[in-house]
This record gives sequence, C-alpha cells and structure tokens, in this order.
Amino acid sequence: MASDQMPRRHKLSIIPSVRPMVAEDVLHVSAIEQQVTPHPWRESQFLESVSKHYCLVLTLETKVIGYTIYTIVAGEAEILNIAIHPDYQGKGYGRQLLDHLMAIVYDQAERLYLEVRASNASAIHLYQEVGFVEICLRRNYYPTPSGPEDAIVMAIDFQFGL
Ligand SMILES: CC(C)(COP(=O)(O)OP(=O)(O)OC[C@H]1O[C@@H](n2cnc3c(N)ncnc32)[C@H](O)[C@@H]1OP(=O)(O)O)[C@@H](O)C(=O)NCCC(=O)NCCS
Repeated sequence: MASDQMPRRHKLSIIPSVRPMVAEDVLHVSAIEQQVTPHPWRESQFLESVSKHYCLVLTLETKVIGYTIYTIVAGEAEILNIAIHPDYQGKGYGRQLLDHLMAIVYDQAERLYLEVRASNASAIHLYQEVGFVEICLRRNYYPTPSGPEDAIVMAIDFQFGL
C-alpha cells in the first residue's frame, strides 16, 4: 500500500478525558458549535439536552474541546450531535470521543444510529472507519442557502459485538 493511502495514526500528546456535560459547560460547547457548523444548535438546545439526553464532553486538562449528545430509547441509540473544536480536529480526538461513546452504548443498545449531511466527507469517513454503514438516504432533507441537501442515515449493529 502506498504511504499516502495508509490510515493516519494519531499520537495524542495530552491524553484527553471524557466526562458528562454539565450546564456550566454549555457556554463553551455552544461557542464550539458556532464554529463547526453553518447550522448550529442554540444554547437552549444544549441546556435542554443536559437534562433530557446523554451528553459528554471531551476535555484536555480542563479545557472542553469536544462534545457529543446521544439518546438511548428501547435498545436503540442515536447520536444527535458530535463535534470537535476546529483547532483540535484531525488529531484523533473525534475518534477517541466516538470510541468512548460506543463503549458505553454497546452495553445498553443493539444499534447506534446517526444522520449526517451527504457533503460531510470527514465525518462520513470517520463513521465508516469505526464500522458504521449507510442504511438509507433521505433526499433533500436539509435546507441550505444553495438548495436542499441529502441526509445519510448510518448505523452500527452491536448484536455481534464490536
Ligand atoms: C467530524 C469530526 C467530529 C471528526 O473529529 P476529528 O477529531 O476531526 O477526527 P479524527 O482526527 O479523530 O479523525 C478520525 C478519522 O476521521 C476521518 N477524518 C477526520 N478528518 C478528516 C478529513 N479532513 N478528511 C477526511 N477524513 C477525515 C478519518 O477517517 C480519520 O481517520 P484517520 O486519521 O485514521 O485517517 C470533526 O471533524 C468535527 O467536529 N466536524 C464538524 C462537526 C461535524 O461535522 N460533526 C458531525 C455531524 S454528523
């Protein structure tokens, strides 16, 4: 395999940790969200999620650099949001947060779903790398200023183990 085709292996210089998100994190989380997506969640959505859903933050020392929100209902889990601060993207942190989430969900759900914009190549690549497969396409699902965009629904099945 040519070296430019080999998967990038990351060496995390400071080991990140993962903990539950609390209301005091929401300001930081919301600031990251504003930078990573043209369609950011509102602060109130994160606050509501802290009380209604499962929410994790990824920290470097005490600094919040990433987060994820997910639900588990009747054996089915769904990732509602996941992001890494732009300064820390491409360094293996998103993979680390996803691995952590999957290890938790593995004991509590048979399947984990998510929905991703068809144009979000880096996220789709990450999901495929950890074992997600496309299960359906929702055409013209997201409105955007340049016209509607498709959503890809992806899932990973835990029945046979990770
Ligand atoms: C998607 C996201 C969470 C990934 O986090 P990250 O820390 O940048 O990803 P990692 O560094 O852990 O990369 C893990 C894998 O993702 C893929 N990936 C990450 N960045 C990529 C890029 N720019 N191009 C292609 N693949 C990429 C690769 O498969 C990579 O594996 P490799 O390093 O072995 O090649 C992050 O880029 C992000 O916050 N994006 C904006 C918000 C968003 O799109 N969230 C997802 C909504 S569904």
